[in-house]
Amino acid sequence: MAKNSNGNGQNKDQDLARATSESANYLTDNQGHPVGDDQNSLRAGPRGPTLLEDYILREKIQHFDHERIPERVVHARGAAAHGYFQVYESLAEYTSAKVLQDPSKKTPVFVRFSTVAGSRGSADTARDVRGFAVKMYTEDGNWDIVGNNIPVFFIQDAIKFPDLIHAVKPEPHNEIPQAASAHDTFYDFISLTPESMHMLMWVMSDRAIPRSFATMEGFGVHTFRLINAQGTSHFVKFHWKPVLGAHSLVWDEAVKIAGQDADFHRRAMWESIEQGTPFEWEMGIQLIPEGEESKYDFDVLDATKLWPEDLIPVRIVGKMTLDRNPDNYFAETEQVAFMTTNIVPGIDFSNDPLLQGRNFSYLDTQLSRLGSPNFSELPINRPLAQVSNNQRDAHMRYTINKGRVSYAPATLDGHSPDETTSARGFHSYPQDVSGQKVRVRSESFGDHYGQARLFWNSMAPVEKEHIVKALQFELSKVETRDIRVRMLGQLAQINEVLAAQVGLALGEKVQTGAKTAKPNGTADSADEIAALANAS
Ligand code: HEM
Repeated sequence: MAKNSNGNGQNKDQDLARATSESANYLTDNQGHPVGDDQNSLRAGPRGPTLLEDYILREKIQHFDHERIPERVVHARGAAAHGYFQVYESLAEYTSAKVLQDPSKKTPVFVRFSTVAGSRGSADTARDVRGFAVKMYTEDGNWDIVGNNIPVFFIQDAIKFPDLIHAVKPEPHNEIPQAASAHDTFYDFISLTPESMHMLMWVMSDRAIPRSFATMEGFGVHTFRLINAQGTSHFVKFHWKPVLGAHSLVWDEAVKIAGQDADFHRRAMWESIEQGTPFEWEMGIQLIPEGEESKYDFDVLDATKLWPEDLIPVRIVGKMTLDRNPDNYFAETEQVAFMTTNIVPGIDFSNDPLLQGRNFSYLDTQLSRLGSPNFSELPINRPLAQVSNNQRDAHMRYTINKGRVSYAPATLDGHSPDETTSARGFHSYPQDVSGQKVRVRSESFGDHYGQARLFWNSMAPVEKEHIVKALQFELSKVETRDIRVRMLGQLAQINEVLAAQVGLALGEKVQTGAKTAKPNGTADSADEIAALANAS
């Protein structure tokens, strides 16, 4: 097959340098013509009309007119850095992925952190989930872990994602972000979506106002598979543990910083890296052998559930270091295209219905945002591994493919028909699949409150206080009483004390029945119930 190399080394910095413009010591247009003056347009006399002939004016203005591309539909605001990943010891027992074999090897990475709901120009410290998207340029092609700083998600099925995002984004009639105005649409949706309660607890906690990108945990969220050379499969969850530990702002700080320095997080990362202090995380994995996944009271395919670390410990397996700032925000941070389908041989998907939908969404959205199926040829996206296939042409094709053959099987140009399959290539784990076509969710996805309750119960008193205050603030921004009441009903399913404390600030009394014993062995403490009775 004709080679179509997008890279000629394993060093991404050198690869990117090939695309870096070198300044001539004289001015040119985009075609390399020397330009005498690009500050005065060509006129018929000093006070006369501008001439159509002025190609220098037209090129300069026309390029400017087309500078903007659409911002991401979610995660529009982001900042990124370059670095590398190194595994501590070979994981060959679990996976054949080359990036996870050799401790002496440094794999280049590019990592973009983001908020979800805000537009490109919004503030860094808003209460929100943070994107934590890692692109590794491995010898077997790019591997993206497109994760968040919270281990679970709002919904179980991708088909709900447009609804979730429409509910959280500014309301369509006035485009006022919900951080500052009515929160009705978000809580209308959430109060009718019990599966989001676990995630909501995380978002109301201090995790949603991190102190720095360097003090955020990262999570792949979904269950993936690791497959070893013998074809044995383990279910896996990926974690990034910050070397500095996880630290947050308090709400008051976050609000003040948003006013004083909207670029607080991106500035801190930029300055730290410029001053020679890298940002660092360790990679962790949780593993469940194939066949043992039904031992637990959660379904491993349900992205609203985490795997409790006391049951399935996180094993630390490597380290990621971010030590170089981008040279150009647009070319790198804006044009980088992450995709959950960027996985490498030795890693595979699970049937998580959220992941399955994301596997469609990211390629699709890049076509719209970056405008061409050739977006993977952009310097920041092109793999260091060779690209070799029969895909051709389309807008802005950069590669010059040689020869007559752009089909398979073929015998011309030195090809042989058996080159169309590759033992080295990605092969899906041969899982047995059968079943009726149904639009039904498994009953094993049905417990929406158990892990939300475990999360609440695991909080220290001050952390509980922060959650209560966050909910009091958020729901005080909900103008429609029915929605507030419905939300309190949802919170009461998690913990009656929590619901009642939030209700107190809203002037709503919540039914607190005598049932203090909760599933999963948790219970509201008698002291908390008594304190609540006194308060109300
Ligand atoms: C960005 C879709 C769930 C993490 C995006 C983008 C889309 C999208 C369209 C914009 C991408 C771009 O323009 O480059 C979806 C859909 C989801 C979903 C359809 C559910 C069905 C999730 C989940 C996570 C996540 C569960 C975390 C585990 C991210 C991150 C980005 C992103 C980190 C920003 C990537 C970057 O920095 O460029 N998502 N998403 N998304 N998504 Fe999702």
